[in-house]
Amino acid sequence: MSEKKAHIITIGNEKGGTGKSTLAMHLATFLLNEGMRVAIIDTDGRQGTVSKYIENRLKFLKENHLALKMPQLVTVTPRDDYTEITNHISEIDLMVEELCRQNDAIIIDTPGAKNYLFETAHQLADTLITPIGDSLIDLNVLSYSDNTRYKAGHYAQFIWDIKKYRAQKGKLPLNWIVVGNRVSALNSRNKTLFFEQLKHISGIYGFRVADGIKERVIYKELFWQGLTVLDLNTAGLKNRLSLSHLAAKQEIRALAEFICPQS
Ligand SMILES: Nc1ncnc2c1ncn2[C@@H]1O[C@H](COP(=O)(O)OP(=O)(O)O)[C@@H](O)[C@H]1O
Ligand SMILES: [Mg+2]
Repeated sequence: MSEKKAHIITIGNEKGGTGKSTLAMHLATFLLNEGMRVAIIDTDGRQGTVSKYIENRLKFLKENHLALKMPQLVTVTPRDDYTEITNHISEIDLMVEELCRQNDAIIIDTPGAKNYLFETAHQLADTLITPIGDSLIDLNVLSYSDNTRYKAGHYAQFIWDIKKYRAQKGKLPLNWIVVGNRVSALNSRNKTLFFEQLKHISGIYGFRVADGIKERVIYKELFWQGLTVLDLNTAGLKNRLSLSHLAAKQEIRALAEFICPQS
């Protein structure tokens, strides 16, 4: 009988600050709450945002005698010596195989710029989530227009190569989902244009567009305690929920269900 393999979800965009680590932590919490065993691989080990997020969570739970669910964490930093890269990639492949045996889902957080860990993380993905700011500047990584036609941006070109790599290896097609993050609550011409363009190019580059996550202060505030909006008002956390908190919980659940409809 073949072993059930964990689903690998990579969070990637060739741009920093789009919310990759924040979404990685929220998605992991959603899947843990669904009863899944979850590992997070932080391939942005130098910055280590998601690693620190999890450290903060451990500390907060210990200090407050709380028992929220925790993902398994592996932090990876790139080797400086380029002669070690091939060996390091083989080590990572073996480590991921082992994690796949021990977990139901693996979430890989990535840096905002290309290096060999970024490439490996994308090659490993069954599903790729790309958070993107609701600005035409941010859209440039996917596509830009020279007024006559759309041209693939550098990240869309990179993903095209990843898709070819998967086909050559006989893997299933990549499930690529793009999600607007820090989306303004206000309606504006920019926002309308952004989502029109995103929808248009989704057919060209082969991704699906999930409903966006709004810009909310709560996503910035919870890092020190290592909490996510999904933890609010659960398991002994007696904070008052505002309408914005409830809406945040709802939009994260909707995104997670869009990504993993079977869970
Ligand atoms: N939906 C959101 N609303 C408000 N702030 C957000 C949201 N998502 C992320 N942030 C903030 O944006 C910044 C970048 O987020 P981060 O997850 O570190 O991005 P990345 O991992 O892509 O570099 C952080 O300050 C984070 O708190
Ligand atoms: Mg990050």
